[in-house]
Amino acid sequence: MAVDVVPVALGARSYEVRIGPGLIGRAGAEILPLLRRRRVAIVTDESVAGLHLSALVAALAAEGIAATSLSVPAGEATKGWPQLSRVVEWLLEEKIERRDIVIAFGGGVVGDLVGFAAAILRRGVRFVQIPTTLLAQVDSSVGGKTGINTAQGKNLVGAFHQPALVLADTMVLESLPARDFLAGYGEVVKYGLLGDAAFFDWLEANAPDLARDAAKRQHAVRRSVEMKAGIVERDETEEGERALLNLGHTFCHALEKATGYSDRLLHGEGVAIGCALAFELSQRLGLCAQEAPSRVRAHLRAMGMKVDLSDIPGDLPGAEGLLDLMGQDKKVVDGQLRFVLARGIGQAFVATDVPRGAVLTLLQDALAAPRG
Ligand code: GLY
Repeated sequence: MAVDVVPVALGARSYEVRIGPGLIGRAGAEILPLLRRRRVAIVTDESVAGLHLSALVAALAAEGIAATSLSVPAGEATKGWPQLSRVVEWLLEEKIERRDIVIAFGGGVVGDLVGFAAAILRRGVRFVQIPTTLLAQVDSSVGGKTGINTAQGKNLVGAFHQPALVLADTMVLESLPARDFLAGYGEVVKYGLLGDAAFFDWLEANAPDLARDAAKRQHAVRRSVEMKAGIVERDETEEGERALLNLGHTFCHALEKATGYSDRLLHGEGVAIGCALAFELSQRLGLCAQEAPSRVRAHLRAMGMKVDLSDIPGDLPGAEGLLDLMGQDKKVVDGQLRFVLARGIGQAFVATDVPRGAVLTLLQDALAAPRG
């Protein structure tokens, strides 16, 4: 299968996202033109290292590129100050210079952490993203958002630092646990819902095959990346349109916080529930017809995804508690909750004037729904 190339046109910071099966096996040839000396530093996590690091190192060696590597623990807890300083100091000890390339090899946690380390190392070194999860391939590896979590919240410390290249090997997704694949799918469906009704139609018909059909999987990743690239080109630093990528995320961040960022709720699962709630809120506010939230819910259910608050195991805070957690979201501007709402499937927009009472009632009703 041919490799798809999606350009991200950002002037001097432009780069390509290359998408296709087997790209890890060709990583040396893909990366070589970027190098000024045949040496790179790879940062990965312990799970990805066990599965794929030797293949990446061999692919680099095939082009005479020496690689040194560091594996950090897998999981969201790694995205904080201690591992950031560990990565930065390791890169300094490895004498990675301004003209060198650092490779972020893993999912969203590794991409965000290593991208931020590259942003601050020697005031900025170039890095290549090799995302190994569906979520990272369609969202977090593209667009240059990097950062870490702090005690105050997620992604509150970071930088915009665009990668020099993204290699999305769609074959590697076959080794993902089913739950992680589906969670990543939450971000794929988000693109259809926010701006491409025809893509949502396509997903309704084809998404059940994505895990086993390589061509359909590649199409879904490519269309998602095309949409993200377009939005990032028009609004790199999220002054406007880029906020649409946060469809479902105000609800999601509150739910993630309420569940302690544990495996009770994966990020992409929270995005899917958040999208269903955002469409329900839009319908209640008279912005879209009932058909829209019904289709969203039916599709997520058909995919076997979490849709309702009752799908999250364990207790949740009450509606007021969840609303308070939303107020702590970094997307809050001047204390006003910003929601991405929709006038229909594929027609999202940012609303800053959502009545608090409407959100509260929505949450009360969602919490009262019986467990399925
Ligand atoms: N993940 C949202 C963004 O990149 O803006």
